[in-house]
Amino acid sequence: MSTPPSTDARAIPDTPDTPDIPDADADAAAVTGALSREAIARVDSTGQLEDVLALPEHLRDALWRVESAIMQGWDTSAGLVVAGMGGSAIGGALARAALGDHASRPIFVTRAYGLPPWTTPDTMVLCASYSGDTEETLACYESAGALGAQRTVVTTGGRLAEMARADGVPVIPLPGGFQPRAAVAYMTVAALEVAALCGAGPRLTSEIDVAAAHTEQLVAEWGPDAGEDSLAKALARGLHRTIPVIAGAGLTTPIAYRWKTQINENAKQPCFSHELPELDHNEIVGWEGAVELGRFSAVFLDDSDAHPRVKERMALTERLIAPNAAASFHLETRGQTTIERVSSLVLLGDLVSIYLAALRGVDPGPVRAIDELKSALAAN
Ligand code: F6R
Repeated sequence: MSTPPSTDARAIPDTPDTPDIPDADADAAAVTGALSREAIARVDSTGQLEDVLALPEHLRDALWRVESAIMQGWDTSAGLVVAGMGGSAIGGALARAALGDHASRPIFVTRAYGLPPWTTPDTMVLCASYSGDTEETLACYESAGALGAQRTVVTTGGRLAEMARADGVPVIPLPGGFQPRAAVAYMTVAALEVAALCGAGPRLTSEIDVAAAHTEQLVAEWGPDAGEDSLAKALARGLHRTIPVIAGAGLTTPIAYRWKTQINENAKQPCFSHELPELDHNEIVGWEGAVELGRFSAVFLDDSDAHPRVKERMALTERLIAPNAAASFHLETRGQTTIERVSSLVLLGDLVSIYLAALRGVDPGPVRAIDELKSALAAN
């Protein structure tokens, strides 16, 4: 049941017990052969694949939208808080990771009903909600107002846009018609640009533009028109019928979380994420019991600029847990700048989640459980 660890960052190890395409067809009526556009379209009723492939355009469009939102450069010495949930919060986390050591003030992401207690009138609070109706984010918007903090909103509309317009708070308008999680590039760029406007980080406008071109190449390399042995398709087949556990470190920590949430929401299956070096102090022991409990697979998201000891840990950790994993993969970011590197693995994970949905024969679009939960809460 085990797979030897990969030593080549891009290599896919043999997964002898992983079903090949004909086996996968046994439980995925939707995929009868290749993971082609046609095969995916059979399950993808709302065009999630197209939205993932449009990531480069979203990066460019997002820049234009922030620029046209008429915002002044407030200087908020206490830093930036990004308040949002799920697919709307991840952009803040990715932006903070991409800024890394270049962040000159605290950048904090809150996924809750409230703001950190140190929020003051000198803090910028970016309220991010694709729908504009997420109650936790609305609560943060109101708290920020009560505390006298500077506010900016990024949304398609909803109650958040209504309140912001009434309060004279700048709104970065997003295009409608996506699943919130598909607006990841918009949310990331909004957080990066607001960070620059409030003095929490450098302006990365041209890096974002360059990253869009780089991501376009990766779309060709990993998208549905690429060969069946392309990295994204091979990974999806390797992870199919397993419970993936994604490990990140530093820059790739929020990317690992993105993979987890995309696999949860698009492929409708359990998936977990953790980060190094912390996981070497707990989760690594849990792998000892993995084989008796289920088919768990491990994915390590490495980065060329990771701390050398973290790189060493990643290789050692993979070697230690591989015997207990149904499959194990070691991947590395692609590109030069942090924006390119973040975008590369976000794109790969998003594609893998759509391919997994196709292999499982499930529609990646609808998120019925989230909708049901929101309706039940709204009725109370
Ligand atoms: C749905 C999704 C969810 C939402 C979350 C918050 O695609 O990814 O995680 O992002 O429920 O809703 P919004 O983004 O509308 O504030």
